[in-house]
Amino acid sequence: MGNLTRVADVSDIAPGGVRIVKVERKTLAVFNIDGTLYAIDNTCRHRGGPLGEGKLEGTTVTCPWHGWKYNISTGENLTKPDKKIATYPVTVKEDSIFVEIS
Ligand code: FES
Repeated sequence: MGNLTRVADVSDIAPGGVRIVKVERKTLAVFNIDGTLYAIDNTCRHRGGPLGEGKLEGTTVTCPWHGWKYNISTGENLTKPDKKIATYPVTVKEDSIFVEIS
């Protein structure tokens, strides 16, 4: 099991919202989709675009720089299947959101 790091209050990320957080030298995007939270690396595997600033449709985020699409639930790259993005387990305890980094 990895380290649990508190990244935000539950009220900080409304449904449909996202927050960029730094955890152990990583920059993550934490999304809230209809009350379910997902954390992925914020950095696109193409040329480093900020995925947390991308357009979100369901569980698909589109990189704002050149349009690569990722499934934020699985990390699957829908544009280049060999370039998955890292995903991280998210836990809610009381009013806080924690991300697990292994
Ligand atoms: S940097 Fe994300 S698609 Fe190019």
